[in-house]
Amino acid sequence: MFETDKEILGWYERQPRALTNEFVSSIPWRDVGNHELNPAFVPVLLYMRDVEYFTEMYYRELRRTPTGRDPVIKKFMDRWSTEENQHARLLNRFLNEAGIPTSEKWQAEAKSRISWRYTIESYLLDYALTPFGKHFHGAHMVWGTINEITTLQGYRRLSELARHPVLTRLLGAIVQEESIHSSFFWNMARVKLSQAKFSRDLARFIIRRFWTPVGQGAKPQHETNYVISTLFSGIDGLDFFKRTVTNRVTRLPGFKGFTALEEKVAPIVQT
Ligand SMILES: [Fe+2]
Ligand SMILES: [Fe+2]
Repeated sequence: MFETDKEILGWYERQPRALTNEFVSSIPWRDVGNHELNPAFVPVLLYMRDVEYFTEMYYRELRRTPTGRDPVIKKFMDRWSTEENQHARLLNRFLNEAGIPTSEKWQAEAKSRISWRYTIESYLLDYALTPFGKHFHGAHMVWGTINEITTLQGYRRLSELARHPVLTRLLGAIVQEESIHSSFFWNMARVKLSQAKFSRDLARFIIRRFWTPVGQGAKPQHETNYVISTLFSGIDGLDFFKRTVTNRVTRLPGFKGFTALEEKVAPIVQT
């Protein structure tokens, strides 16, 4: 167990990248088109690509807040945002190799489709919370933990369901990196939340009040629901969510018995 945020950063920095240049060039890209890709997964891949890309925007927003100015978190985020950006580009490349054309300006187009309401709301939220300063770090880290774990599990399901050998290989490496991200956020959340009761109460309040599944808000709700129902239908999605996400989050200080996440997810996975 890590005691300080610097130890967690040190651990993160010692983790080798799964998506090295050698790995990326060893992917049999030319072989992608030789395997069938079920068209139902195309919107899922596009959603994931865009959400990965939005990390850059999220990072820019976060840099205006006390969390983003924390030297340890900032150092993590520099590498983290680069990794997420590469995930986006690799998913886009996979789609192209699979014969699904995407616009050259897909980044700008994805960004331009984000609703103004979301942009303003996230801006206001960051500013409203600025006076809480370092007490807000815990909430940000819990939020990150949840998003990383759900992303990771989403990729695992996609890989299992799509049964496309090249996609499986690519997602295997992405999953390794998401797993490192989720450990970073989880450990940071643990350290930050253990520092003050006010941080714990604030984090619990913020997550209960504002958390939505990864990408929702920046993406319209029907797209988020499509991704969740495509990936988690046929299994007990709620049970899966409880085992993978709730289970991990409720082990954080101040989150014992926290059920708000599954309450938000239940109506989507049970339709
Ligand atoms: Fe990612
Ligand atoms: Fe990640």
